Amino acid sequence: MAAKIIDGKEFAASVRGKVADHVARLKEQNGITPGLAVVLVGEDPASAVYVKNKGKSTVEVGMNSYEHRLDADTSEEVLLALIDQLNNDPAVHGILCQLPLPGHLNEELVINSIVPEKDVDGFHISNVGLLGTGQKSMVPCTPLGCLMMLRDHHGSLSGLNAVVVGRSNIVGKPMANLLLKDSCTVTIAHSRTKNIEDLCRSADIVVAAVGRPEMITGDWIGDGATVIDVGINRIPHPEKEGKTKLVGDVHFASAVEKAGAITPVPGGVGPMTIACLLANTVTACCRSNGLEEPEGLTA
Ligand code: GUN
Repeated sequence: MAAKIIDGKEFAASVRGKVADHVARLKEQNGITPGLAVVLVGEDPASAVYVKNKGKSTVEVGMNSYEHRLDADTSEEVLLALIDQLNNDPAVHGILCQLPLPGHLNEELVINSIVPEKDVDGFHISNVGLLGTGQKSMVPCTPLGCLMMLRDHHGSLSGLNAVVVGRSNIVGKPMANLLLKDSCTVTIAHSRTKNIEDLCRSADIVVAAVGRPEMITGDWIGDGATVIDVGINRIPHPEKEGKTKLVGDVHFASAVEKAGAITPVPGGVGPMTIACLLANTVTACCRSNGLEEPEGLTA
């Protein structure tokens, strides 16, 4: 039987709805409007589109959006001074510095200059450490979105075998930590892993985050497993010459025949990332004001 398709667009809309409700309550009951500052250095066209979408989504849920666009040749000193200003601005509850940064800037230094409480990307070394030790932290948006979809589909994840394919700091490692926190048995697989196909076939949950188009085919998937595809790869269109097509890290057509549930690309994990950024901003705002956190929007 073909798998249930997990609709990320619909799920993201429901997350944004919950965020908007909570923002309305914060305004009404506490006189607080959550604010998200996004910093873009340079003119990378893909980054400019992401930043524009983040700003638009922020305003749509009733939060304040502060966009800071800096020239590509901005010095580290000037960027760090801006981050310092945002760290100390009580109207700003979340700060995101769009990556990649131009080559002359030290990404690690810049990320770690954001105060952990406002680090809505969850990339600060303190947040990485807190998540790794199972403590309350800001959680990276894409793995948080994957976790929400998995919890929604399975209810409890306790005792399930999960294989995360990919070991990046942004997705693979935090995803594995989140699944472990929800009592899954977790394996991180990567390009050097032996018997990776058998390993995936034995899993109840496969999260694909390797950045290799359609690498995971249906014969890697166990009957009825849940497949979360984080990949977004643009490839030449197989039928339309000169055109391109977006595909995931999973070969959808074959995997859908084996899986119990699967996220498509596009329309799966992708829309969840910005929704979780908004969720993290409202969470950061509540924490900084000592208020109750919104239910279902955190790890
Ligand atoms: N560039 C691509 N994805 C992301 C993200 O999730 N956060 C930041 N800061 N930069 C990105």
